[in-house]
Amino acid sequence: MDLYEYQARDLFEKHGVPVLGGVVAEDPAAAKAAAQQLGTPVVVVKAQVKTGGRGKAGGVKIAKSPEEAEAKAAEILGMDIKGHTVHQVMIAAGADIAEEFYFSLLLDRANRTYLAMCSVEGGVEIEQLAVERPEALARVAVDPTVGIDEAKAAEIVEAARFDAETGAKVAPVLQKLWDVYREEDATLVEVNPLVKTGEGEIIALDGKVTLDENAGFRHEDHAALVDSRTEDPLEAKAKEFDLNYVKLDGEVGIIGNGAGLVMSTLDVVAYAGEEHGVKPANFLDIGGGASAEVMANGLDVILGDEQVSAVFVNVFGGITACDAVANGIVGALQKLGDQATKPLVVRLDGNKVEEGRKILADFAHPLVTQADTMDGGAAKVAAAAAGK
Ligand SMILES: Nc1ncnc2c1ncn2[C@@H]1O[C@H](COP(=O)(O)OP(=O)(O)O)[C@@H](O)[C@H]1O
Ligand SMILES: [Mg+2]
Repeated sequence: MDLYEYQARDLFEKHGVPVLGGVVAEDPAAAKAAAQQLGTPVVVVKAQVKTGGRGKAGGVKIAKSPEEAEAKAAEILGMDIKGHTVHQVMIAAGADIAEEFYFSLLLDRANRTYLAMCSVEGGVEIEQLAVERPEALARVAVDPTVGIDEAKAAEIVEAARFDAETGAKVAPVLQKLWDVYREEDATLVEVNPLVKTGEGEIIALDGKVTLDENAGFRHEDHAALVDSRTEDPLEAKAKEFDLNYVKLDGEVGIIGNGAGLVMSTLDVVAYAGEEHGVKPANFLDIGGGASAEVMANGLDVILGDEQVSAVFVNVFGGITACDAVANGIVGALQKLGDQATKPLVVRLDGNKVEEGRKILADFAHPLVTQADTMDGGAAKVAAAAAGK
């Protein structure tokens, strides 16, 4: 889950990372009040959207009075930044920026470690810097079992070529950012810019944080960070049903048991779909115990996707045998009744496959076609999705 800047700011503050005051506002009047509350001579009105490049898009504006903050908020609220509508602004205390640096800490899957990236040349042109002069962006591996301790922080600031005095001030901030990363179970903590003020203070001025939702059970407070306004309604529904669902942009709905099988199913459907110009519409793993109810919930979510024109149920019977899965499908179709309108291709294999296939054959639902193999099922569903 990606956080808004103001949420990242709050987490930074909680872990002792130096930040400036910031107050969220949803309308211009509240922006004016927020500026008054902050009481600094200069404030910055910042669009809260989950995408970078807000500054360049006109979503970060300076205001020198509460009235001006109100006017700038009116300009920014409702703006579209890279497809994200601005519903909130953060009124932030204005910083006297002397220098802008860059720091990020992320999960480096390829190298099975964490990676810190740091540069003395931060700011809105960081992407360009990374492409044109990658050597100006220091990359330092961080051992997950050690993290950013004093020695690692010193190594990072040296690799980024900070001068000794600035480096000595930045290093402890990096250790605090490690606390955010570790204690909040983040997979990304990025600060751009990390600034040095005219007075020589180090402050995190813009933060981007991604939290690992799989660790959500350890963080009761993280649930409150979800913004239901911007959540995909089908993903929200699947979450309520406790299903592992990811929406994609194709036409073929996919249901399988086990993440590995579902991923392979996406591959074979994508391959079979090339001929017909169709693609998988989602990832949906109903897990091991595919009861009628779980199957119905899964179908409910997938059939709710208007883009879906056919569904492929690909199940390998294991502990939950194929007869139970077939009964699940029958139960689901009975429960859905007239709401089930899209063709369903079902491939069952594994434990009690004969019994399972017989149950579906006897049920003889007009929308259900069985397939003997995964490739065969993929070909059938791709054709069905293309209306053939
Ligand atoms: N509180 C602030 N005070 C002064 N300048 C700021 C403040 N916040 C942002 N800026 C300036 O605006 C630029 C862009 O803002 P930032 O928050 O990094 O948004 P984005 O990365 O989405 O463009 C920063 O690089 C900085 O120069
Ligand atoms: Mg930024």
